[in-house]
Amino acid sequence: MKISVQTPATIANLGCGFDCFGLALPLYNIVTIEETIMPGSGIEINILDKEENLEAENIPTDKNNIVYKAIELLYNYIGQSPAELKINIKTGIPIARGLGSSASVITGGLIAANELLGRPADEAVLLSIATEIEGHPDNVTPAFTGGMTIAEIEDSGSVTYRKLPWPKEWKITVCVPDFELATDISRSVLPENVPIKDAVYNLRRASMFVQAVHTKDEELMKFAMNDRLHQPYRMKLVPGLNNIMQELKHTDKVLGCVLAGAGPSIAVISSGNTDEIKEIVHTSWDNINVNAKIHTYNIEENGAKIIN
Ligand code: HSE
Repeated sequence: MKISVQTPATIANLGCGFDCFGLALPLYNIVTIEETIMPGSGIEINILDKEENLEAENIPTDKNNIVYKAIELLYNYIGQSPAELKINIKTGIPIARGLGSSASVITGGLIAANELLGRPADEAVLLSIATEIEGHPDNVTPAFTGGMTIAEIEDSGSVTYRKLPWPKEWKITVCVPDFELATDISRSVLPENVPIKDAVYNLRRASMFVQAVHTKDEELMKFAMNDRLHQPYRMKLVPGLNNIMQELKHTDKVLGCVLAGAGPSIAVISSGNTDEIKEIVHTSWDNINVNAKIHTYNIEENGAKIIN
């Protein structure tokens, strides 16, 4: 038996919602899991498109692979260990760019393995395992559900989330530079503690963000997307980010410009004017010799799905 699951890319944080907000994008990874019948054939992991996605070369294909680690936790949950499995990973999401590529394959692998096992785990268990592997729930939640989500991880490991009604008119322009930034490096520059005034700053904005999404309030959204918990510390890791943010503040129809997840991609939320936004980002990065791929998307409302 063989199961393939397609799972969307995601953008976490969205400015003020560090480790909490996330939304899904119409870019996909596909994980296929096959039970091999040959006893003793062990675990085989293949990355299918290394030529198109050069960073895929660095994905481990042994038991350090995150898809394998997630599947192993699922098997352990039912008192078993994975034995003979072939795992194929097809990467359509840029790697180490802040677009949730790892959350996507973890989610896809868990859903595929759960199907193979006859669905012993419900969504809550799968989300909890995915979050344990990923470390935070903000990418894995929209990878499961699609749409825009707010998610929290309880001390028990269970994830509480809600999906918000993202306005269809709000587009996401995703600017992917030609350099990578590993999440652990991007997290290593964050302080252990933050000033209370900065915590309160984000608390106010995250509350307003939720209201702005619910009521399609563009003026409130412009105010709400600012952040003081992570972006100021990460600015130095993404050349040109500060300039681009400053320029886009005054650009018509821009609601916010944020680091996508832990970076280095930049996401610009706007109610239009996407050609001018692309031009501004391209010009700023060209000036410092950063090449970028920039595309505008609608949010992906559907989450992970079994495709065969
Ligand atoms: N919330 C996470 C971070 C997303 O910003 O580090 C990265 O996976």
